[in-house]
Amino acid sequence: MSKVKKGIILAGGSGSRLYPLTTFLTKQLQPVYDKPMIYYPLSTLIENGVAEICLISKPDQLPLFESILGDGSKFGVRIEYHPQPSPDGIAQSFLIAEDFIGKESVALILGDNIFHSPAVFRDTFANFEGGAAIFAYRVQDPQRYGVVEFDPSGNAVSLEEKPKQPKSNYVVPGIYLYDRNVARLTRELKPSARGELEITDLNLAYLHAKTLRVSRLPRGFAWLDAGTSSSLHEASSFVQTLEKRQGIKIGCPEEAAYRAGLIGKKKLCELIHAMPACEYKDYLLKLEREIEAELDGA
Ligand code: G1P
Repeated sequence: MSKVKKGIILAGGSGSRLYPLTTFLTKQLQPVYDKPMIYYPLSTLIENGVAEICLISKPDQLPLFESILGDGSKFGVRIEYHPQPSPDGIAQSFLIAEDFIGKESVALILGDNIFHSPAVFRDTFANFEGGAAIFAYRVQDPQRYGVVEFDPSGNAVSLEEKPKQPKSNYVVPGIYLYDRNVARLTRELKPSARGELEITDLNLAYLHAKTLRVSRLPRGFAWLDAGTSSSLHEASSFVQTLEKRQGIKIGCPEEAAYRAGLIGKKKLCELIHAMPACEYKDYLLKLEREIEAELDGA
C-alpha cells in the first residue's frame, strides 16, 4: 500500500524542441508508439497507488488533457486540472498545487518521462516517511540533467543542475516524492539564472536538512524522456519492441488501475467494450480473458 496518495503531473513547457509537431499538438499528447505520452506518467502514478492527481499545463492546453482523461473516474482516480500561466520552473508546481497538496505527501512526475518497469518505485512509495525521496539513474550525458554525486559509502553528497563538468554519471529522473513541507520550502527558493524555480534547488534544501533519500535505479530499468524528435522516435521504437516481444503493454492506465485495485473487473470490462475496434482494445480483451481464467482458477 502506497503511503503517497497524491500526485502531480507537470505537463508544461512550450515543446519548442519538438517543433513543428507542437504547432498543432502539445508535447505530452504526442503519440509514443500506440498511445498519448501522458498515458505513461499517468500509469506510473496509478501503478504506485496514487489516486488523486493534479495535472498542470498551459491554460490553453488543459481542455485537451481534460477531453482525454476526464475527471479520472474511468481509471479509478480523481484528476483535477490547474493552469501554469508561465513556465517558471518545475518546483513552481508545488505553489500551483498548494491547496491540492494540503497537509499530505505528494509525488511529482514530469509529463514527458517514461519509466519501465515502474515496480521499482513501489517500495519507496510504500515506505515513504517524510523528507524527500528521489532517484538516480546512470546515463552517458549527465550534463543535460540534475546530477547526483555519491560518497564512497553511497550517500548523496551533492546535487547540481546541468553542470558543465558533472561529478558523476548519475542523474535525477523526473519522479520525486515530498512531504507536506514542500510548498513552504519552495517558497523559500530564489529563481535560478534561467529565471526558474529549480527542482534541484528544492532537493538541495532537503539534502542540507539531511532529509533527502536518493535511491539508485537498477541497471535493467529503462527511463526515457521524449522531449526531442529523436528521443520521441526512440521512445516509440522502445515501447513497440517491448510490447511486441512480451505481449504486454507499457503505459496502459486501464490495466494499471485494475492491477492497483482502483477499478474492479466489471468497470474494466465496461471500459474495454466502449472502445472502438483497435489493437489497444484487442490487448485489453486478451487481458480480460486472462483475468477471467485467473478468477475461474482461483
Ligand atoms: C529537469 C530537471 C532536471 C532533471 C530532468 C529530468 O530538466 O531540471 O534536474 O534531471 O528534468 O527529466 P529539464 O526539464 O529542465 O531539462
